[in-house]
Amino acid sequence: MKIAIGADHAGYRLKDELVPFIESLGHEIEDVGCDCSQSVDYPDYALPVAELVAQGKADRGILICGTGIGMSIAANKVRGIRCALVHDMFSAKATREHNDTNVLAMGERVIGPGVAQEIIRIWLETPFTNGERHVGRVGKVMNIEAQYAESAKSE
Ligand code: RB5
Repeated sequence: MKIAIGADHAGYRLKDELVPFIESLGHEIEDVGCDCSQSVDYPDYALPVAELVAQGKADRGILICGTGIGMSIAANKVRGIRCALVHDMFSAKATREHNDTNVLAMGERVIGPGVAQEIIRIWLETPFTNGERHVGRVGKVMNIEAQYAESAKSE
């Protein structure tokens, strides 16, 4: 798969550790930055990653900031994105199976590289459970997005 990855100043060290790991799993990386400890704003990195995924130019996205929270909030503003903030292996599997998430957010100040690697490995290899329940629920989520986009147009 092609994986878009981005981080802010509080997440770039973990990002840089994870890139070779993701490549070792056989995936291609598009790294949108950042690459140093100079303070930056997480939405500026969440947006290009989310857009690459939403436009079909990347299969999945991975975002890292201090907590992962800001990145996940920002990514979920982009139409078509289902971003999950994940810091444990159970959630990594469940969010693929139940929510069909296409972007993963993590916090460098919350977990270390070993747990982050395992989360990524599970999240990348777990398929969406194509059961009627989950398809219907994800469809309802996407309908909320579509409804708000429509009402914004008519305002
Ligand atoms: C940066 O200090 C921090 O606020 C950011 O990395 C992130 O944790 C925001 O949600």
